[in-house]
Amino acid sequence: METADINGIRKRIEELRTSIRENNRRYYVENDPVISDYDFDMLMNELAVLEKAHPELVTPDSPTQKVGSDLRDRTGQDGARHEFAQYPHKYPMLSLGNTYDISEVEAFADRARKGLDTSFTFCCELKFDGTAICLTYRKGVLFRALTRGDGIVGDDVTENVRHIYNIPQKLEGSGYPDEFEIRGEIYMPYTAFDRLNEERMRDEDQPFANPRNAASGSLKLLDPDEVGRRGLECTLYHLAGGDLPFATHDEALKAAASWGLPISDKRRICHSIEEIEEYITYWDKARKALPFATDGIVIKINELPCQKELGYTAKFPRWAVAYKFKAEQALTRLLSIDYQVGRTGAVTPVANLEPVLLSGTTVKRATLHNYGQMHLLDIHIGDYVYVEKGGEIIPKITGVDTDRREPGAQMPVFPDKCPDCGTPLVKDEGEARYFCPNQDGCPTQIKGKLVHFISRKAMNVLAGDATIDQLYSLGYVRTPADLYSLTKTQLLTLDGWKDKSARRFLDSLEASRKTTSFDHVLFALGIRYVGETTAKSLARHFGNIDALMHADRDTLLSVDDIGEVVADSILDYFSKPAHLEEIRRLEQAGLKFSAEEESEPKSSALERKTIVISGNFSVSRDEIKETIQRNGGKNSSSVSGKTSFLLAGEKPGPEKLKKAASLNIPVISEEEFRKMLPQDPENTESGTSVHGTGPADQPTLF
Ligand code: IVH
Repeated sequence: METADINGIRKRIEELRTSIRENNRRYYVENDPVISDYDFDMLMNELAVLEKAHPELVTPDSPTQKVGSDLRDRTGQDGARHEFAQYPHKYPMLSLGNTYDISEVEAFADRARKGLDTSFTFCCELKFDGTAICLTYRKGVLFRALTRGDGIVGDDVTENVRHIYNIPQKLEGSGYPDEFEIRGEIYMPYTAFDRLNEERMRDEDQPFANPRNAASGSLKLLDPDEVGRRGLECTLYHLAGGDLPFATHDEALKAAASWGLPISDKRRICHSIEEIEEYITYWDKARKALPFATDGIVIKINELPCQKELGYTAKFPRWAVAYKFKAEQALTRLLSIDYQVGRTGAVTPVANLEPVLLSGTTVKRATLHNYGQMHLLDIHIGDYVYVEKGGEIIPKITGVDTDRREPGAQMPVFPDKCPDCGTPLVKDEGEARYFCPNQDGCPTQIKGKLVHFISRKAMNVLAGDATIDQLYSLGYVRTPADLYSLTKTQLLTLDGWKDKSARRFLDSLEASRKTTSFDHVLFALGIRYVGETTAKSLARHFGNIDALMHADRDTLLSVDDIGEVVADSILDYFSKPAHLEEIRRLEQAGLKFSAEEESEPKSSALERKTIVISGNFSVSRDEIKETIQRNGGKNSSSVSGKTSFLLAGEKPGPEKLKKAASLNIPVISEEEFRKMLPQDPENTESGTSVHGTGPADQPTLF
């Protein structure tokens, strides 16, 4: 081969490796992939083909030789620090060879037949689209949970995993080894994913691209309670270890299920490639009705001695292969683009599309994310565009069919002024997003901030967007502090408002003023990048607003979870005189700007009681926990001999119920629980009288 040719190949190999490494990092570490799985697999495929033809160019650090790593650097995408202890895996945690082509599944079966001199069967399973986990049980008790990491060493996420409701802390039945590892996937069902993303969008946090990223992002949170709230689930599919007392993989999974471990019942033993194809065809359709995401089928040799004989490459088992489904796409026309301003001033381009059917729903609008993305796609008005859903609540445009572009098609013109207030837009540092800098004067931003301020996880005032719209257009409210000087006479001028609705709204404002804790007040202020969890860390660390307001950059950076981006945003917020004035007015209105005020227990009604909560309640789980603490009780995450009672809301976790029954621990309802608390006129008035009709569009206060 000519030197020029080999140099060209060497260069292409290097390009592919660099791109694959970067995409691996975006996928595993940032949970924010920028290319589709299919495109990623195609890059990997090209690299594998080139390396096969030129084995002299293979290096041990090539991505073809290693699994992607989810181990985080100290600083993540959000600038926050993520730290977990790391432990080596007893057996390397490998990936799976994958294909989109049934003929390659046939080739896999042929290779296995050639490599084995005995007959064997296949176990076909769903390929769950989540994040891999390795659980170790010692003497029947969950001992450790590790992420895949780099396949050799994983992050210790045991505490987080203890908050995933279908992972047993303790095994049932008998016959389990003294110590064993079982591997599987942690995933986020669609309903939990939609709920989380709705919340994130309302709080102007970046929504997760899909349930898989949401699952891996959630598993790496530093607050196990928050992990519990996110509704993750687990399914296990591989008992690790060479010397298991079972003849087949299927038998091993049956035994694991009898020990109370979550094992899918959707697997099937296949005897031929035809049966495998049938299974694939069936699930390619049926998976759309499943409550969680799957991205393919895994075909495994069922007999464990055969698995042992086939063994592993550096990266994959030779006894299994994944057949992957392509993400569902639809092709439709782009009619026009709207530009929407959010609470933080970010301008999002939203495409209006010719309606098209995609995964069972009609799609009319899709996000183009930001200016940078529009530019990358080189999109023109009237273009045929590819729309993808893949579990996301907002469909996105992933590509453009430029061959079908009509002559004279116009490039969209990104506005240079805010579509709402006309202020010239500015670009962010990354040059991908435009912002309206008129934070305190742009009506959409003002209303967005007010809606955020009253939202359930912030001040929990019983009102919605429509009320804020009216209060704003009548000129009654410009900043959150104005809410606390509203009068009944003013409220009676709102459309359809009567004495009762006005009184209820004022009561709810009053309750929010008195009962909302410092961390929620801090979250309500709407400081950019200060979400619920960050607000909690700040409140815990600084204790009051003065200390926070006067903290310098280094002090902010020393707080758990606070990275450079967040620290700078906090400094910027408190550098504005208008914000200081607003805080002064809110303090004057009586809102809590210090954590100490709340540390005094309200009663000792729950003194010495250790309470485990499970299920959904009429208020958030956080509020229930706060109530437990304020009445002298202790909240615990798992049922044990020390539990005083299990407080069960709607749909409590079956594992917790079972455990409570086996230990003879009482299970009480929310209603019974409330009866245990002292009658508090503050709580009961605002808590019970707000149920019913009127402008209230949020659940009741506790
Ligand atoms: S078996 C030794 N079975 O897919 C290999 N993996 O793309 C053990 N996955 O790393 C893996 N569903 O995280 C297996 N039924 C299933 C699976 C499954 C999802 C994941 C797993 C793996 C990845 C490869």
